Amino acid sequence: MNTITHPVDQALQSRRSVRAFLPTDVPDALVLHLLELAARAPSGTNTQPWQVHVLKGEALAQLVQLAQACFNDPQALAAQPEPYDYYPKHWVSPYLDRRRKVGFDLYALLGIAKGDKEAMHRQHARNYCFFDAPVGLFFTIDNILSQGSWLDYGMFLQSLMIAARGHGLDTCPQAAWLSLQGVVTSFLELDDSKQLVCGMALGYADEAAIENRLLTERVAATEFARFVKAKAGS
Ligand SMILES: Cc1cc2nc3c(=O)[nH]c(=O)nc-3n(C[C@H](O)[C@H](O)[C@H](O)COP(=O)(O)O)c2cc1C
Repeated sequence: MNTITHPVDQALQSRRSVRAFLPTDVPDALVLHLLELAARAPSGTNTQPWQVHVLKGEALAQLVQLAQACFNDPQALAAQPEPYDYYPKHWVSPYLDRRRKVGFDLYALLGIAKGDKEAMHRQHARNYCFFDAPVGLFFTIDNILSQGSWLDYGMFLQSLMIAARGHGLDTCPQAAWLSLQGVVTSFLELDDSKQLVCGMALGYADEAAIENRLLTERVAATEFARFVKAKAGS
């Protein structure tokens, strides 16, 4: 193996979900450049299912205000439309264990004790200001498209996060916004033909923030992949 780190390896390895950002602006031209790079992602028959809504400055502040108000009002929150199932309804091992570990590790870093619901609520609310990132992104898809286009969408999202790394920027993909789908779709003035896929925070990481020290583990490739052997006698 090459001992000099390849720039693509570096971008992939340094990508992590950042949960505290500096207020440093990301110029519109750079946001567009990253989106153009991300749009080089493949998609079945080049369908390019992605639609991106970029929020900055006053528009971002307005949305964040509406989102915080909704998240802190149990009735308004319960009245939000049911999102698509991003997560399974019933968790089982090993997924449940991995999910728990990342949650425990984050809360441990932040000094949030097990069962401290108020502190957990406050931390969860950080999603709804994009962790103070100067750019908030929403991704939507046309409802007429099928499962394959969601596969394409994932490639686009990862390409965007890797392109961001290439420019010294960080991201946090966010399914949390699905719980506030009504607030988001109404602010973006979307009709029923479109669906929210997820949100994403984009900006420069606040390296002094303790939550950005979270390092997540991965299962080794030798555990999730196998080299299939040829059949004997064929
Ligand atoms: C589609 C998607 C949605 C996610 N939603 C959230 C979210 O709402 N809030 C959050 O803090 N992290 C969210 N994450 C980040 C995951 O927790 C994170 O990717 C995982 O723990 C691995 O950590 P890493 O991204 O730092 O490698 C999301 C990740 C993905 C891919």
